[in-house]
Amino acid sequence: MIKKIENDGGTYFLLQNDSLAYLMRVRGGKLEQLHFGRPIAQEDCAALTYPPNLGWGGSTLYEENDPSSCMDTVPLAWSGSGFGDYRESPVELQVEGKPLASDFVLKDAAISDGIIPISSGLPGATGGSETLVVRMAYRGVSGLQLRLYFSLYPTALTRRAVLVNETAKSVVVTKLMSVLLDLPGDFEITTFDGGWIAEAHAHKTAVSRQRVVNESTAGFSSSRHNPGFLLTRPNTTEFHGEAYGFNLIYSGNHYASAQTSQQNLTRVMQGISPDHFAWEVKSGDCFETPEAVLCWSDKGCNGLSRKMHRFVNENIIPHAWQYENRPVVFNNWEGCMFGFSESKLLFLARRAKRLGCELFVLDDGWFGQRNSDRAGLGDYSVNRKKLPDGLEGLSRKIHNLGMDFGLWFEPEAVNPDSELYRAHPDWALHTDGVPDLYGRHELLLDLTKSEVRDYIVDSVSNILDSADIQYVKWDMNRQSPLLGAEAHAYIVGLCDVLRRIFGPRPEILLESCSSGGNRFDLGMLCFFPQIWTSDDTDPIERLDIQQGLSYLYPQSTMSAHIAAAPHAQTLRKTPLSTRANVAFFGVLGLELDLSHLLPVEETELASQIQFYKAHRETFQFGEFCRNDAEKGAVCWQVAGDRKSVVGLFHRLVPAAPGYEWLRVGGLHGAKCYRVTCCPQLLRVGEFGRLIGHISPVPIDPNGVVLRTADHRYKMADAAQSFTASGDALMSGVPINQRFTGTGYDKRLRMQGDFGSNLYLIEEEPV
Ligand code: DGJ
Repeated sequence: MIKKIENDGGTYFLLQNDSLAYLMRVRGGKLEQLHFGRPIAQEDCAALTYPPNLGWGGSTLYEENDPSSCMDTVPLAWSGSGFGDYRESPVELQVEGKPLASDFVLKDAAISDGIIPISSGLPGATGGSETLVVRMAYRGVSGLQLRLYFSLYPTALTRRAVLVNETAKSVVVTKLMSVLLDLPGDFEITTFDGGWIAEAHAHKTAVSRQRVVNESTAGFSSSRHNPGFLLTRPNTTEFHGEAYGFNLIYSGNHYASAQTSQQNLTRVMQGISPDHFAWEVKSGDCFETPEAVLCWSDKGCNGLSRKMHRFVNENIIPHAWQYENRPVVFNNWEGCMFGFSESKLLFLARRAKRLGCELFVLDDGWFGQRNSDRAGLGDYSVNRKKLPDGLEGLSRKIHNLGMDFGLWFEPEAVNPDSELYRAHPDWALHTDGVPDLYGRHELLLDLTKSEVRDYIVDSVSNILDSADIQYVKWDMNRQSPLLGAEAHAYIVGLCDVLRRIFGPRPEILLESCSSGGNRFDLGMLCFFPQIWTSDDTDPIERLDIQQGLSYLYPQSTMSAHIAAAPHAQTLRKTPLSTRANVAFFGVLGLELDLSHLLPVEETELASQIQFYKAHRETFQFGEFCRNDAEKGAVCWQVAGDRKSVVGLFHRLVPAAPGYEWLRVGGLHGAKCYRVTCCPQLLRVGEFGRLIGHISPVPIDPNGVVLRTADHRYKMADAAQSFTASGDALMSGVPINQRFTGTGYDKRLRMQGDFGSNLYLIEEEPV
């Protein structure tokens, strides 16, 4: 519900549902930010109003005779410059090259049902219940107006701003945030930072008088700094305390900052990065910001993530794919790279099908002269040497095997060594007077040009219509040379392309990819239900990557594949059990050359995929929880209807590890649960010469006997099953011992480095 309340204190706006409350008051035309958090009673308006401030020495007054009108000290829901608030401004404007102070005051406000869609071409959330539009007029220049939009969703609130220019002159926007608010008290900020193959590592720091900035200037939202971030109270944990979540429905350069003031208010803002930004708003035009998302919980970071996940699943993901099971994919990239033939692909498809995969994805290298990353990008005509029957023939053969078929594209980029570039060098982005810079030997196409967008729309659409294609992986692998407003125009162009190609084809499952997670953001998720989380498929690296993203995004959005070991990027050798156990907490796929699988690996992979499918809804859409674990360990839980699956992961093993407890969240205290440690198999060869300790006969650790046994037989590991109450499980129950050098016992968890276990927790019938 959104309400306008008039009482002695003035005019208030209360936006409230079961999940949160947001309260503002209008005073002197300014919007004061009184409360954001726990739902409140309407009568609380008075209590939550800040007492009139009686002035701090040296302050500038907005109204000469009103000592309480010092805007520098008031908590605001919007600000500007030139009216006495010297904290960071959310808006900076210029007219004829000169800075224009921005003093906007409330003109009127209207409440409407549902949402008011963004008209600039950017995507937005859907399914909001109500929207408040506050219109603010510029005090100095008549005809300049700012509209602030506040929309209410079941678990979040969104905000955005629109500058409307009805003056006779152009106004240049150099900064316009989507949201600003002043929150009371101290916070810590957690950002999700990294780079290629190391995305979204969580970093927490105290918010202080020095401004903390979370920003991308690479042209995309970037793996350097994900746009989403958290503000938490210093004592907040995963399970307890207040946590605020922020994110932006935007895939371009973004900016957010947090800073405390002398009056113990924390100013937070988020929007498009102002770096080199200058957008001309001509007379009669307007400029719209992307939508910012605000979320709150008093149940710790896990509580916040649950709300953010629900918002993404219900209000961001395209309608046709909301809560739709995602298929188990086989992707040929890490297995083949550019070197494949139709017969190799069909061989892989047959094996993948036998293991339980449902969708075969042909990655890079199927078109033009694309035999390495140096050539061919841009030329979407099938390479008949590799695929003599074309895509139509291949997709038909894959379907005949009983699998769906998916295809990779990188339509936004071009290799200079391509037919497209030779015909249209001007379609690529160049910087005047400066030599081209290449990333992965490619240049970006200029998506601000309509002829380029038309080419992409036509060429991708034609391919999609030429074969039976159920899935598209849309890749993009380079930073943009565009700065500021041009980089923003590129993103608007990209949205146009995506809408035109996929709007008429909603049944195609889309996966976004940008060298892995360079575009893991809500802007992409409005088009793509899932994202290639990282080019790093090493499960131990994925513990940090998937855990970081889990604060903001649900498992259904994180594509996670089982890859080969030793791993291509880390050379780490990780057991197949752990490779699967980590990938289960996302949208599962396989990405390795299946021609060299050992019989034991085939059996294990098939049973892993079977297990995933049996619990797929829980893995993809269950409530995710980061549980407490012993130092260095990671414990994830997904909770579905009357069952949970818990993954307990270790990195390096200590010698003689002590007791370990399974501590889970979100159960009913009084209910009884059956806990089963999911059976895992242990390769005989893991033991090398140690096999001599348990074998009655001498065995050569390098000999053919052990090698044959290793390829065919496995030993049972970590067998454990018991019942416990929800209370006991939430307090922590001791689990089977880990290997301590005292020989084999099937109850032991024989983990070694990078070991893990899965626990299935099922509610017992009463
Ligand atoms: C980069 C992606 O992240 C990979 O998964 C793969 O699709 C390659 N591009 C193909 O060139």
